[in-house]
Order: sequence, then structure tokens, then C-alpha cells
Amino acid sequence: MLNTSTMLNTPIYLDNHATTRVDPRVLDVMLPFFSEHYGNAASINHRFGDDARAAVETARDEVARLVAAASESVVFTSGATEANNLAIKGLLAPLLRRRAMASNKAPHLIVNAAEHRAVLDPAKRLKRNGAAVTTIPVDEFGHVQSSSLVESLRPETQLVSVMLVNNEVGTVNPVAKLAAICHEHGALLHCDAVQAAGRVPIDLSSPGADLLTLSAHKVYGPKGVGALIVRRGGDRIPLEALIDGGGHEGQLRSGTLPVPLIVGFGEACRIAREEGTAESTRIAALRDELWEQLRRDLDGLHLNGHATERVCGNLNVSFEGVDGDVLMNAMTEIAVSSGSACTSADPEPSHVLRAIGRSDQLTRASLRFGIGRFNTEDEIRFAADYVVAAVRRLRA
Ligand SMILES: Cc1ncc(COP(=O)(O)O)c(C=O)c1O
Repeated sequence: MLNTSTMLNTPIYLDNHATTRVDPRVLDVMLPFFSEHYGNAASINHRFGDDARAAVETARDEVARLVAAASESVVFTSGATEANNLAIKGLLAPLLRRRAMASNKAPHLIVNAAEHRAVLDPAKRLKRNGAAVTTIPVDEFGHVQSSSLVESLRPETQLVSVMLVNNEVGTVNPVAKLAAICHEHGALLHCDAVQAAGRVPIDLSSPGADLLTLSAHKVYGPKGVGALIVRRGGDRIPLEALIDGGGHEGQLRSGTLPVPLIVGFGEACRIAREEGTAESTRIAALRDELWEQLRRDLDGLHLNGHATERVCGNLNVSFEGVDGDVLMNAMTEIAVSSGSACTSADPEPSHVLRAIGRSDQLTRASLRFGIGRFNTEDEIRFAADYVVAAVRRLRA
């Protein structure tokens, strides 16, 4: 069987939720902005600044178009972690300060138990600082249920944070429906859409999330840049900047803009908008093929997440009778992620698998496959055979 990856002596990359390879088309448009058009986008007195600023604004339009938002709503950040922090602390921290002066009820935040740590950790910090925080559960598939949201909403709830696609089990949440419930109760909805961009349609032109997080390196763009989309129209969302300085990005994120990264982010979003639908169909077929082959050749498998309401490239499986880390370490020819250490440098068992009710044993025995743009059918067949052989060996 043809296996280009082993021929080159590099593992087959199946960890596209962790990060994606920069698309060569993205790299091509970025390169001139390091050495030719290297102006500061804030310089207003010369051509270098003008060129950089024009390129940033073109990229801003592309990022906005991917999610059907207005260009002015895009605030560039260093990535999704910063965008999530800006949404959550930027809204709640000033309210907490005001509350301390007026001694009224603490502002209330609701987060979903299966969120990424880039949402859970800012929520924890706010709680330490006096905010009321409710963590709502997910069901066995990883979905946030409308009923749990309704039960948790209070008159003083300011913000609810629910991700569109879960980064571990790939479950797609009904965010538009949840946003409507939040709005009925006078709360705003923040959505971490990092794993959804380019894979699941996002349309902010119809009422939905008020704040939305994106990251370039999950859509075949560069690391180190992301965006918070801050809804415009109606009342202005009163966010406070985390970083003060020159007042860039409408006073919300000071600091010289990383023009090459932003240009790459824009191009990655253009490609995702134009090719995302066809690409998702192709990737979903590869994912289904992998799952079919594993199921055909092995027993004792448990699919984590929802069978159909899941993002195209995600397959998360618990293997009875093996340890995920041992399995992963036994498989040097493919790059996947285990259920114990996939979201951080902290090797704690996955809080997401626990939240969907997996036992500790199955949580430790899980692998996340993340199939992406550059994977081929040959690679998927090789990976399936390879995993089957490794599991049989370890079980024996
Ligand atoms: C759902 C989700 N949110 C946030 C992040 C953090 O993104 P960034 O690396 O851009 O800070 C990730 C990355 O793993 C993610 O998957």
C-alpha cells in the first residue's frame, strides 16, 4: 500500500484539531509582508504604512465574510485564548468593579462544562474575583441542552459562553437556538467557534452569537493571530480592553498589528469560505471510512460524541482494554491525540470525556483523530490498518 508519509519518514498528521498546516497559498500571500511591505499599519505618513493598512483591511473583510459579519466587528487578537479572555473578562470585570462600589448582586456568567480551558480558566478567575459562575452540564453526546440553560439563567446573568464545535468530541451545539434563549432573558452569548470555522456554516447576519472567537491556525493559517467578532448594531457591547497602549482595534486591543499573520488569516478565511463546503464533505467521507474500518476489525469500541451532529474531521474513540497514552506511544507512524492530554500542557484526564459520562478507564483509553485538508485516502487506510494492528497487539 502506498504510504507517502512513511516514505518521507514523518508520521501521518491526524491532529488537525490541535493545529493545521499552513496552506501553501496562505504562506505565499504572507511572505511579501515580512520583507517588502513591512510597514506598520498604524503609520499614516507614508506608502509603507498605507500598504500595510490596506492589506489588514482586506484581511478584515475576509475574516468577516467567513462568518457573515460586518468588517468593523472584527477585533484582531493574538489567538483564540486572548479573544475568549477579552469576551469574558472584558465584559464581566468592569461590572464586578462597579458592583463592588454599588454593593448590588454579583454579575453572573454561565459556561458549558465541555468548553476549552481558554473559556473555563477566565471563568474561574472571575469567580475568584467575586463573579457568580454556573457551569452547565452537557448530555452524553456533548450537547448543551436548552433546558439546562433555561434553568441556569438569572436576572443578573450577563453572559453565556457555549462553543459551536467541541474540540475533543466534535459535537456541534445548537448555538442559534441557545442565543435566542439568552436574548429572551437579557443575556449575551459568546461562542468559541474556533473548531467550526470553515467546517460548519456560521452566519452572524441573522441573530445569533453576540461575541464570536476565531483562530487562524485552526483554518490552515498561521499561529499567533485570531479574532473576536463583536456584534455591531443595537446597543454597543461594553467591553473593556485587556491590553492598553496605542488604542489599536477600536481601543479594544492595543499593540502593533502583526500584518503578515493577519494577511495570512484573511487568505485562510477566503479559502475556507470558497472551498469549505466541498472540503467538509470530502473530509467527512474520510472520517467515516476510518470509523467503518476500525469498527469492522475491532470490537470494544465506543464512539465519543454524536454520530451525526459532529464536525467533519473529528473521530474520538475509546478502546476497551488499552491505555490511550500507551497506544499513542506505540504508534509512531501517526500523529493523533489521546484523551488525557489534548487541550493543554497539563496531562489531566479529559474533562470533556468526563462531562459526557465516560468512565475514567474509557477516558484514559481514548484517541482523537483530527482529519484535515491535506489527508489522503491512502493515509486514512494506512492509519486504520495501523491502529487495528496496534490495538490487537496491546490487547494480546
Ligand atoms: C475550542 C478552542 N478554543 C480555544 C483554543 C485556543 O486557541 P489559540 O491557540 O488560538 O489560543 C483552542 C485550541 O486548541 C480550541 O480548540
